[in-house]
Amino acid sequence: MSKQTTISDLVNVLDKITGGRIVSDIWQVPGGTNPFVVMKSSNIPGKSVMETPGLVFGDPQKPVRKIAVCMTLTESAIELAGATGVDVIIAHHPIADAANSGGVPLKFYLSLYDIAVMELHEAFHGLHPGIPFIHGHQTFRTEIAYGGLPGNIMSVGRALPEIKTVGDVIERLNTFMGVSQEKQLLEQEKEIRDSHDIEETCLATSPRVLNGSMENKVSTVLHIFPHTGFSPAHMGQALNEHPEIDTVIASISRVRSDHPLVSKAKELNLNFIVGNSHAMEIQENGLPLAYAIQALLPGVEVVVFRERVTATRLEQVGTPEIKRYGQEMAYKYLVERS
Ligand SMILES: [Fe+2]
Ligand SMILES: [Fe+2]
Repeated sequence: MSKQTTISDLVNVLDKITGGRIVSDIWQVPGGTNPFVVMKSSNIPGKSVMETPGLVFGDPQKPVRKIAVCMTLTESAIELAGATGVDVIIAHHPIADAANSGGVPLKFYLSLYDIAVMELHEAFHGLHPGIPFIHGHQTFRTEIAYGGLPGNIMSVGRALPEIKTVGDVIERLNTFMGVSQEKQLLEQEKEIRDSHDIEETCLATSPRVLNGSMENKVSTVLHIFPHTGFSPAHMGQALNEHPEIDTVIASISRVRSDHPLVSKAKELNLNFIVGNSHAMEIQENGLPLAYAIQALLPGVEVVVFRERVTATRLEQVGTPEIKRYGQEMAYKYLVERS
């Protein structure tokens, strides 16, 4: 019989995938020198988190038969894992005690269901060229501290041979991300729930053009991530360095049509496309990670936890029974008190 796969084998696999970026022992982290161990903080008291790529909770000797890959660990993910025999969840975004485990300490909740959790965020970024590829270009320059601003990521790329116009980029994104399937799913949901103004993230954030027309030519792309601090001045600088840029693509985060970055693109006569939102990252980064794990641990089952977030008008949520319940609790116990 072949040796049973363990959590520690999975740690080794992640270390291989990342070329040695994994923390071998989280309890040794504070004194360590791993550059991928980073604090994420807005300086709000008690709300920062330290990223520690690797095993966050669980016994390294624990056998692994089923692995789940997710973006952000939540109570729903923990419940799904517990109910479907998942031995370990790998979350892309960093894990904070209680915040990512339904308001209770990770150790109580995870040990109850015997689930291990791992995280792999900044240590995974930049390992594959997939996000530019999905957006229809091949990068020839990438900066991670553009204009001297750490974390300000930008790339410049040439359009793939099949990408000639703005319309081609939009069509490619819609095809890759299955936008028409999401539309059908939402239409069915509206029907079934008899609730006709439900909004869903993937559709609400589907790709769009904020400057330029669908027929405009695309040859050289400036790809930006507005939440990393990219400014209109940076756009001007990029155009000075690469006058052949004709298109700006913003993805992961995006801007609205009245944003200064869009005004700058108009001034510079550049197409401005908003591409995939952060809600698509489970496919952009989650799938390459999941396939890599599956390839390196062929005997283990790998599942992907997909999230689908919807917004429903209050009076349309739930069965008649639960609506009545919500109202009764509110009026009898909550509204009176205030
Ligand atoms: Fe990411
Ligand atoms: Fe992310």
